[in-house]
Amino acid sequence: ILPRTFAMIKPDIISSGREEEVLNGFNIAAQKKIHLTIDEAKSFYKEHEGKPFYETLTSWISSCSPIIALILEKEDAVQAWRQAIGPTNSIKAKEEAPDSIRAMFGTDGSLNAVHGSDSLESAEREINFFFSTPNGSQPHILV
Ligand code: CMP
Repeated sequence: ILPRTFAMIKPDIISSGREEEVLNGFNIAAQKKIHLTIDEAKSFYKEHEGKPFYETLTSWISSCSPIIALILEKEDAVQAWRQAIGPTNSIKAKEEAPDSIRAMFGTDGSLNAVHGSDSLESAEREINFFFSTPNGSQPHILV
């Protein structure tokens, strides 16, 4: 069984129609395209509540387009996806990791194209947020 991580494709990539390109090299265990409500976005990002970017981030993630939530599998999945996406701030990513997903598709510190779990614990929590099912069965591929 391969380790897994949680990824979110944010509205900026979805609106460009290039969401498949960024998943190269990762096994997609499950995916779900959903339009988050503002409350769901706030709940997903609740560790950032009170930070200056919280309102911008949560309204962006819930307003203009759906997002795609994914369970990705790969050897050392958490680190491998973090490596693929690059630094949080897309401006920094363009300087330091020009081949990274955030460098190629993101705009700035907030509009940064993708999310990736920062640890195995976060990955499990974030996977449960989007994919938990009442009877503990495996999530289905919805898209
Ligand atoms: P993500 O990896 O999804 O985790 C939290 C998100 O908040 C982050 O990507 C950015 O979209 C946003 N974010 C984090 N730090 C900042 C910041 N300093 N300024 C603006 N937005 C930020």
